[in-house]
Amino acid sequence: MTLDGSTGKRRESIGIGLLGLGTVGSGVAKVLTEEADRLAEIATMPMTLRLVLVRDLTKTRDYSVAPDLLTSDVETVFADPDIDIVVELIGGVEEAYDYICRAISQGKHVATANKDVMARHGAEILSLAREKGVHVLFEASVGAGIPIIGPLTRDLAVNDVRSISGIINGTTNYILTKMAKEGVDFADVLSEAQSLGYAESDPTNDVEGIDASYKLAILATLAFRTKVADTDVYHEGITKLTARDFRYAQELGYAIKLLALGRKENGGVQVRVHPALVPSDSMIAKVDGVLNAVEVDTDLAGRVLFHGRGAGALPTTSAVVSDVLQIAQRIVGGVRPHSADSGGDESIVRPMTDLETRYYLRMTVAERPGVLAQITKVFGDRQISIASIVHKEIDYDDLKAEIVIITNLAREASVQDAISQLEQLEVVIEVGNMIRVEDL
Ligand SMILES: NC(=O)c1ccc[n+]([C@@H]2O[C@H](COP(=O)([O-])OP(=O)(O)OC[C@H]3O[C@@H](n4cnc5c(N)ncnc54)[C@H](OP(=O)(O)O)[C@@H]3O)[C@@H](O)[C@H]2O)c1
Repeated sequence: MTLDGSTGKRRESIGIGLLGLGTVGSGVAKVLTEEADRLAEIATMPMTLRLVLVRDLTKTRDYSVAPDLLTSDVETVFADPDIDIVVELIGGVEEAYDYICRAISQGKHVATANKDVMARHGAEILSLAREKGVHVLFEASVGAGIPIIGPLTRDLAVNDVRSISGIINGTTNYILTKMAKEGVDFADVLSEAQSLGYAESDPTNDVEGIDASYKLAILATLAFRTKVADTDVYHEGITKLTARDFRYAQELGYAIKLLALGRKENGGVQVRVHPALVPSDSMIAKVDGVLNAVEVDTDLAGRVLFHGRGAGALPTTSAVVSDVLQIAQRIVGGVRPHSADSGGDESIVRPMTDLETRYYLRMTVAERPGVLAQITKVFGDRQISIASIVHKEIDYDDLKAEIVIITNLAREASVQDAISQLEQLEVVIEVGNMIRVEDL
């Protein structure tokens, strides 16, 4: 028998209520059931799956739990005094948020894989958890099986994190890898990714960078110990990238990746998700397919890299069960929640217009004398210096050419202003794309 240091309850085993028995829930139920002895040994106390919430009690599932464990009434989970840990795996936002808060209010600890809820309501959830003295862990919400939240809140807690950068959406990385390797356009790869199940039928959240912005909000909150909401994160998707951008980037020694970047800057933080040119020989350029990677740059530990599969039933199960185990160990050890588990004070999120980086611009222009002088004047007038300007393709029949410009360090506001001005020039037929260059 032990006393829960957080809630003061006496217990001989740790009861678990599982909300959801879908892709991840089935994996979690299987491991909790089939590995019960090993888990009990690690937790130093048996862990018992007591109830499993689903919508449809009659559905055939990847993993069948004992029928008497299934319920479609969430109230039975909240009402069971022997459920100590609620594992939220139903997905979505409002209902999941409500269930998490209700579990916490009942003095139950929570493990969740829900990035949408943690990005939108993480601050309120963690504050309620602190007030009620319970643990809320959410390792699987970013990078699935890749341990990143635990390291940020525990192993690297003594460090000052200067930046986090990485690839945290497998669907878009799969699409970009295909575009780079096969020289094909976005729309063609997207339909193939959908038929293979790597992209959803409505891919908006992934391809517009929204999913990555949720995950970055969670990571930035923990890394910089400051509140970063999903709406604070600037995001731009991958839909405007063309096969030509990949070809030109490769010729210039770069790969194109959808990057999530968080940096401490000028007393605030900058948080952004957008496609970026990264040097071909950089570590991040070599992260291909559905893999994810996050690099954390710190004052003491230096640069630390986390790399692996960022989605899927098994990696996500690994992270969720690990959270359940951690909570069980904390219950047994009488460990109370500590502030490193949650976000800190309000942050100053730097506006995107303040960003200073290098830029790639692809544009179609008239092929005649004096055109480059007009274009370079637009940049010069805004104090933007050009590192290189290359004629990529000349169409002698239609008298037009495609040029690629790489700038030196410039301010985002100036570059956006230059693009607006370039679009007004009679000699500029189209500004095809602007991609930021990150020398990671
Ligand atoms: N799949 C991944 O690779 C992955 C990776 C990282 C994080 N996650 C996160 O893990 C969570 C679960 O994802 P998933 O892929 O396992 O989802 P899923 O396959 O759609 O499963 C959802 C489960 O929740 C149940 N459910 C949903 N709403 C419910 C409600 N209102 N009341 C009762 N039961 C309800 C469903 O019941 P029925 O089966 O009866 O319909 C189903 O069993 C999500 O937050 C997701 O973002 C998933």
